Amino acid sequence: ELLPYLAVLGGYLIGSLSFAVLVSQGLGLADPRSYGSGNPGATNVLRSGNKLAAALTLALDALKGFLPVWAVAAWGGPYQLGEGTAALVGLAAFLGHLWPVFFRFKGGKGVATAAGVIFGLNPVLGVATLATWLIIAYFSRYSSLAAMVSAAFAPMYQLLIWEAGPTALVLLLMALLLVWRHAANIQKLLAGTESRIGQKAGKPG
Ligand code: G3P
Repeated sequence: ELLPYLAVLGGYLIGSLSFAVLVSQGLGLADPRSYGSGNPGATNVLRSGNKLAAALTLALDALKGFLPVWAVAAWGGPYQLGEGTAALVGLAAFLGHLWPVFFRFKGGKGVATAAGVIFGLNPVLGVATLATWLIIAYFSRYSSLAAMVSAAFAPMYQLLIWEAGPTALVLLLMALLLVWRHAANIQKLLAGTESRIGQKAGKPG
């Protein structure tokens, strides 16, 4: 049947909407790819000093991960789309954020979108993962560190508290890709030059 493939394609297309760029354009702000880390994501938009733009980016990038997964889970049609399809659609949205078809395949690091996907797949796990992010962000003030650690914890929570399956596999894949996309952040963390949450931007680097 065609429906699962269409759902995965839809997830990828929605994920490809780079809201850091779109929100900044909409509010008449500088392109986030031109300052700070150069990353099209909420953390970097916050470096512009515009908290509304950062909050909108965070909310919309998370929503584009959550909604497709939620839609698959809520689908009440003649054939149920199962957990496997929901997990794949979530992964597709995440991949769209990293490699957006609408932005020459140059996307972000996937933190907010992964959070939305996790909330869609397993809301309780979403709360646990978000709590992990908040604790590490509160104590370290490093958005990147909090993202990498909480992304790594998500599949572990899933395996320990719930079960192995498509959700666990997608959580693991997202964690691996997310950490890999943070290579520059890891280097800066090790060098002690990573900027803390809310620090204003310099030139991209
Ligand atoms: O949202 C991505 C975050 O973990 C790191 O972003 O701009 O500091 O590289 P940035």
